[in-house]
Amino acid sequence: MKWREFSSYDELSAHAARIFIEAIRENPKLVLGLPTGRTPVGMYERVVNECSCRDIVTFNLDEYAGISCDHPGSYCAYMQQHLFSHIDVDASRTHIPNGIAPDLDAECVRYEQAIANAGGLGLTFLGLGQNGHIGFNEPGTPFSSRTRVVELTHSTRLANAGLFEGGRVPERAITIGIATILESKRIVLLASGAAKQDAIARLRGGEVSEEFPASALHGHRDVTVLTA
Ligand code: GLP
Repeated sequence: MKWREFSSYDELSAHAARIFIEAIRENPKLVLGLPTGRTPVGMYERVVNECSCRDIVTFNLDEYAGISCDHPGSYCAYMQQHLFSHIDVDASRTHIPNGIAPDLDAECVRYEQAIANAGGLGLTFLGLGQNGHIGFNEPGTPFSSRTRVVELTHSTRLANAGLFEGGRVPERAITIGIATILESKRIVLLASGAAKQDAIARLRGGEVSEEFPASALHGHRDVTVLTA
């Protein structure tokens, strides 16, 4: 695991954007795993106007269950707002789990298969939950997990309450699994801010435990952690 420490969120975002842009220049058909949340916003802002993204393929890591793209708290709305509406990517090449699919379990199987059909993830960016979650893989998730429906913890729902009226965050979500993430050829994790410092220290400590999902990344050959 490689570590890069930045003195500000802006520097971290600029570096992450550079990785994003250079990887696409190297392989215009790159398959990207993409995160949501506050942390990657600065990276997305800097990617806009900088890359020709016409041929990339994207898979988002997760989506809330029970809300549609019209809901401002959905990750589908987030991706339109922060990235997809600003770049030339072909909409048919962008993928986000469908949180309102009539059969959510079938949707998970379909999503996992779509990633496999695309040849697996090439470069995956991850955020970090305060409790160490990656995607929506909460503490206790087996490292062998695949795309599935999960129950969100109280602390995760609290941390993400901002865009939900009355703080009513959905109780469930679809997330790609830890095994799916670990199959990505390259992984870049972004973590910034005071609320993440405990999780960053725990990751740096090297403990490998399913109680701390991000620690699964210690078993991967090409992980870079960017912190600020
Ligand atoms: C959510 C997302 C994660 C993300 C995490 C951190 O729970 N499902 O993929 O990494 O939040 O978000 P933030 O960057 O807002 O702290």
